[in-house]
Amino acid sequence: MAKTMNNEDMKINNSNDKAVSDSHTEEYKIEKDGLTEESMEPDSIDIAQLRTPIKVDLSAVYDFLGARTTQAWVEAASADVPLIIQDHANCEKKAAGTAMNLLFRYEFSYDLQRKLAQLIREEMLHYEQVLGIMNEREQEWGYLSAGRYAKGLLKHKRTHEPAAMVDVLIIGAFIEARSCERFAALAEVIDDERLAKYYRYLLKSESRHFEDYLALAQSLSDDNIDERVAFFKEVEAELISSPDTELRFHSGTPAERFS
Ligand SMILES: [Fe+2]
Ligand SMILES: [Fe+2]
Repeated sequence: MAKTMNNEDMKINNSNDKAVSDSHTEEYKIEKDGLTEESMEPDSIDIAQLRTPIKVDLSAVYDFLGARTTQAWVEAASADVPLIIQDHANCEKKAAGTAMNLLFRYEFSYDLQRKLAQLIREEMLHYEQVLGIMNEREQEWGYLSAGRYAKGLLKHKRTHEPAAMVDVLIIGAFIEARSCERFAALAEVIDDERLAKYYRYLLKSESRHFEDYLALAQSLSDDNIDERVAFFKEVEAELISSPDTELRFHSGTPAERFS
């Protein structure tokens, strides 16, 4: 049986609220960047005002993923930054939309509702920040079709409950972990320090989203999810490592010719 919300759960979880928010702010190491500490906000829409962690430990992300991004993808992405920014905006909006769908579909768990509400808030903040970046660069909004990545994962989702929910949460964990890995890879190479700094800022929340999705998947499943995680690890690694004709934030390694 999936975990249901009761008063005890609510009390326990409310008492954890402070610890959660404390650890959230405490781990921000400040890059001064000409600003005083007081003038910087952790959740500003203006990326110039953000606190950027100097170092985020991504070892759990790298262990979780079955393959690292290829150098060829990093080179292709850094050669077409406007496309990556546009697709990143799409990804943030979709991340919030997916979480919102889960919020309406699975209303029985306090843990799930609380984590999803936080996730939606954070993804929408990221969306506004990326819109700000586009505006700053005078980049016009451009239509970009969805790549093969999310579809390639979701086609393996089981159709009965609670298995479908567990699979969506595991897939969410992979999408978040991959995003994190790609932001870190791009931050190393892109020739735009302001954008690189913003990508480093995102590492903290996206790695937490990965852990939240994974923890929810396990806590809401009767069975151990390791086998399912191992299955999606392979599928995801294949989508990332095999040749892809389109360049997207989550595309595979560039095929000879991009469409
Ligand atoms: Fe995000
Ligand atoms: Fe996220």
